Amino acid sequence: MHAAAPRFDARDFRLALGRFATGVTIITARGADGTPVGITANSFNSVSMDPPMVLWSLAKTARSLPVFSAASQWNVHILANDQEALSNRFARAGEDKFAALELDTGAGEAPLIQGCSARFQCRTAFCYEGGDHLIFVGEVVAYDRSERAPLLFVTGGYALAAKVAGNVSTGADADAGSAPYSENLLGYLLGRAHYQFVAGFRRTLDERGLDDAAFFVLSLLAVRAPFSAAEIAAHIAYTGIDVGAVLLDALVARGLLRCDAGGYALAERGRDAILHVMAAAKGVEADVVGRLGEIDAAALRNALKRLIAVSDPGLPKLWV
Ligand SMILES: Cc1cc2nc3c(=O)[nH]c(=O)nc-3n(C[C@H](O)[C@H](O)[C@H](O)COP(=O)(O)O)c2cc1C
Repeated sequence: MHAAAPRFDARDFRLALGRFATGVTIITARGADGTPVGITANSFNSVSMDPPMVLWSLAKTARSLPVFSAASQWNVHILANDQEALSNRFARAGEDKFAALELDTGAGEAPLIQGCSARFQCRTAFCYEGGDHLIFVGEVVAYDRSERAPLLFVTGGYALAAKVAGNVSTGADADAGSAPYSENLLGYLLGRAHYQFVAGFRRTLDERGLDDAAFFVLSLLAVRAPFSAAEIAAHIAYTGIDVGAVLLDALVARGLLRCDAGGYALAERGRDAILHVMAAAKGVEADVVGRLGEIDAAALRNALKRLIAVSDPGLPKLWV
């Protein structure tokens, strides 16, 4: 005899399930008439190493259900962290999901999407009833993987993976004892990280006779120019450095900038100087990313962009 199904609040049950972080996949198959189908699914999981098997579940309401039920073969794509738009596209019913997508040729007929973190080409081994879903278990006949960091999904939103920092506590409430601040204070972490990073190319700045103010002005004008003195000051205000006409005219006098009716721009010597500094800074970045790994580097970029956005006092936008 079956016990009566517990009456859960659907929204709350979904919220509880959403505490389980997953990757994001797109699963594809091809109908007998050649029509490709694909859905975004985070119900994917590994099942067996020998034989190699995986599973995922498909809502019985999905429009692609007849094709997946009839198909003997399907492909699982573990999405990379820059494929959020693709995930959204395949999560919407009724779109031409494969429009303008470059596909690879696989072992079977099912579409094979490019740019993923990993891909598994499977043939259906079993299909089970699972309440309002069908559970597909597949045997993996081929797979490939890349170094692209995976996209995650947790508490109803996309996320990036970040490795936990070993035995280092990262909570803001870690006991600071009697000290005025702890090693978890964001201000300390950001300041120290900044100075340690810049120290890696400080010598190149010194060789070119560039102090912080000159470095900020030159790097701004390397991205976009010309700018008026007021525009330069507005863009650099976040550093606390007050860039005035005196500083800009000194940079013109040194042959680093030129100034005409349109505003200030890099002169030949300024372009050469900033290219050398940027090359050195990129070397430091490559070294740091190498030590952190691409997955943590992507998570760090994401966290810093979020911090910049939430603390932005309303600076003019440099990158559009
Ligand atoms: C992150 C995410 C995970 C999803 N996981 C699943 C899943 O595991 N199974 C499923 O049937 N639908 C899942 N969906 C919903 C389907 O992608 C969506 O219903 C899709 O439009 C079905 O396509 P179709 O109706 O064209 O077949 C998920 C959606 C998102 C955004």
